Amino acid sequence: MLKHAVLVALIESFKQKSSPFSILDTHAGSARYLLNSTESEKTREFAAGIKPLLSVAQMPSILHVYLNIVRSFNPGGALQTYPGSPLIAASLLRANDTLVACELQVDEAVRLKAEFQRDARVSCHQRDGYEALRALLPPKPKRGLVLIDPPFEAQFEEYNQILFALKQAHQRWPTGTYAVWFPIKLRQDAEAFYRHIAQLPFAKALLVELLLHPANSALRLNGCGVVVLNPPYRIEHTFSEILPVLARALEQSRYGSHEVRFLKR
Ligand SMILES: C[S@@+](CC[C@H](N)C(=O)[O-])C[C@H]1O[C@@H](n2cnc3c(N)ncnc32)[C@H](O)[C@@H]1O
Repeated sequence: MLKHAVLVALIESFKQKSSPFSILDTHAGSARYLLNSTESEKTREFAAGIKPLLSVAQMPSILHVYLNIVRSFNPGGALQTYPGSPLIAASLLRANDTLVACELQVDEAVRLKAEFQRDARVSCHQRDGYEALRALLPPKPKRGLVLIDPPFEAQFEEYNQILFALKQAHQRWPTGTYAVWFPIKLRQDAEAFYRHIAQLPFAKALLVELLLHPANSALRLNGCGVVVLNPPYRIEHTFSEILPVLARALEQSRYGSHEVRFLKR
């Protein structure tokens, strides 16, 4: 939910200008998740997270936009379908904006392609998202966003892969905006990642972090963050409005925390 709220905020900020923009979603998934499917623990997490948020009365406009997209996939009212990042992005694109969505896993990629077969603005590839970063940047139009949302199955190796991919991406497209989602277990590991991010040659790096538990256990997902490189002007204020509302809706203990901080400015 943090990642998707951030994604919506970034896309809405690109839409403040009339010129078209492009999105590259390197780890797109299958686009649509059935919340009542037996297949996944994760879908129950979505349901547990999104339901309290849907009942919040007053919230920043970006969260309204996000939740209205979720509602649009559940016309009957009951929460049965959750849209993944490519569907959320496509819901917000204008006629000339484009989305390239990559997914490595064959079955997921088949479902992803089926989802967008009639949408000329969206192209889907069954390929490695990191390889796509090297091959497809800079995008056309040369304004927009890359979303990097890996599964982190490889744990520490994934952080290294991300940092390496970002270094290469900077050479091809130094002015693009890049949003990277990552899990947080231990504070010291998160801070080490932040130090590496700050050393990348991008002009600015903004961190959005949401913890539901203290970051002191390697055995539990205590929270997550999104790092935004080359963030749009003043987007930190939008993130600062969104975070407390998300934190309250998702609260699991009084030891949660959240912050928006520049790692480099
Ligand atoms: C966290 S999920 C993506 C969720 C999606 N971005 C969303 O927000 O709805 C990560 C996805 O990356 C896929 N994946 C794993 N390694 C990949 C790679 N090297 N390149 C592209 N996709 C990959 C997985 O199959 C999985 O569907």
